[in-house]
Amino acid sequence: MALTKAYIAYFIKNVIDGIFNANATFDYAITLAATIVGITILTYPFRYIHYFGLRMVVDKALCDLRRDLYKKFQNLPSSYFSEARQGKLLSIMVDDTKMFAMSFNSAIAIIREPVTALGLLGVMVYHDWKLTAIVFGIIPFFIIVFNVTGKRIKRYVKKSQEDQSVMTHHASEGLSGQKIIKAFGLQKYMIQRFDQAQDQFLANKKVSNSTEEHSHPLIEVLISVAFAIVIIASFMRAKEGELSVGEFFSFVGAFGMFMDPIRRYSKANAKLNQAKASADRIFKIMEVDEEEDPGSIDKFDFSESIEFNNVTFSYGKGDVLKDFNLKINKGEKVALVGLSGSGKSTALSLLLRLYDYGKGQILIDGKELKDYKLQTLRSLFALVSQDVFLFNDTVKENIKAGENFTDEQISTAFEVSYADEFVHGLPEGIETEIGDRGLKLSGGQAQRLTIARAFLRDCPILLFDEATSALDNESERIVQKALEKVAAHKTVLAVAHRLSTIQNYDRIIVMKEGQKVQEGTHDELMSSDGEYKKLYELSQ
Ligand SMILES: Nc1ncnc2c1ncn2[C@@H]1O[C@H](COP(=O)(O)OP(=O)(O)OP(=O)(O)O)[C@@H](O)[C@H]1O
Ligand SMILES: [Mg+2]
Repeated sequence: MALTKAYIAYFIKNVIDGIFNANATFDYAITLAATIVGITILTYPFRYIHYFGLRMVVDKALCDLRRDLYKKFQNLPSSYFSEARQGKLLSIMVDDTKMFAMSFNSAIAIIREPVTALGLLGVMVYHDWKLTAIVFGIIPFFIIVFNVTGKRIKRYVKKSQEDQSVMTHHASEGLSGQKIIKAFGLQKYMIQRFDQAQDQFLANKKVSNSTEEHSHPLIEVLISVAFAIVIIASFMRAKEGELSVGEFFSFVGAFGMFMDPIRRYSKANAKLNQAKASADRIFKIMEVDEEEDPGSIDKFDFSESIEFNNVTFSYGKGDVLKDFNLKINKGEKVALVGLSGSGKSTALSLLLRLYDYGKGQILIDGKELKDYKLQTLRSLFALVSQDVFLFNDTVKENIKAGENFTDEQISTAFEVSYADEFVHGLPEGIETEIGDRGLKLSGGQAQRLTIARAFLRDCPILLFDEATSALDNESERIVQKALEKVAAHKTVLAVAHRLSTIQNYDRIIVMKEGQKVQEGTHDELMSSDGEYKKLYELSQ
């Protein structure tokens, strides 16, 4: 860089001399003008390739990193998401990856600048090794400043990134909870929470910004001290007749150039430490263990039974299932009932191996869940869950969910799930966009779509976790009818809150605090004075 500048200055001087030469012809001016334009055009592709290449390397690295992170998110165990804030994961995915990828140029500078500085030191040694020794003496002070400020920047950038995560979290809660926020008049509260996160972010950012902005002038002070020492030493050496004016200027010239890479290193050092803070956050997630998939069974037809044998499970504190036993034979329709929190949804989650149980066994056709490949295991079940999950996409894409089905299969699914009546009434039929999380549909309509989705997958076992939020009687009746149709010829494990819906099930399991307390058909259970009768009377 410094050498290029010197060369350009030399070139311009020659050109000026040429133009103002009394003998200069018009041809000379034309040739010169054409040369300047020509050279610029010739260098165009090289400049383009250089800068475009650099940018694409950064953008490609950014995309690859985000791809890896997203894949990681998809493969993390469910237990990880119970603890992690969604906002934090989002902010790592968007902000930290960007900060990390953008540090690519700084990483190059961190290697390039010391090499340039060493080269220039060589030039200085060549000119005057004694003066260079003085410059060497000041280098440790630069290293101390780089180290101290770098660490401090990293620490506070990390803190401000954490605050940014909290802010992203509040932002996403504030957007997804809009209806409830408005209904309960929570706007002021939400804004307050968001403001607090912003204040905290700003406080930490202030420290890292201030450290960074102190570090550059501090380097300038060190440079000026070094320069002052060089001048005094030169003066003394000149007095002793050991240094000529020419030698002095050559040395100072080299010294001036030597300071440029140090300034650039200082800037790169600050950026790189910011990137290190982000890298720590990214790689902490990358190191989390993914869902274990030790099983080997990958082709399989469900033919006998599902069995819970003395299963005990805890999410961390206290057992949610205690010595839980249940056997469901192929083709049976079994319902789980019990008070809220008794462990019904948990039992379904264990079956899908969303969590690993501690004690006991869960067997499918006599083999433990872990013996099956995860994908094979999960492909046995169609889940209609308590919380409806729909994408912001069309009705059609929502029920296809990435797989290929013919239009005929899709229209059968709509018929069976009683979704056709409302889907045809939508402005663009099955091509209608349904909004964030299916916001443009009613509760019952959204449920019927998820039932259609489950039907299309045609899995041998249907898991149904009834929503606790009540639908009106008419919607409820339609959802029930849809389920009955979808459940025909399948093995069913259903969690029910409205006990009227399960009276014709083969068996009803009554759960209390993670244990099975009663078992039988509706009529059998109603004839004894147990938990079921109490629940039934409560639900009437
Ligand atoms: N992801 C989780 N992390 C920690 N604890 C959990 C988690 N999910 C559920 N629990 C706890 O486990 C217990 C059982 O929850 P579960 O969802 O199985 O109940 P449920 O019987 O389905 O209740 P409901 O009828 O209200 O749906 C509850 O006390 C709940 O607080
Ligand atoms: Mg539940």
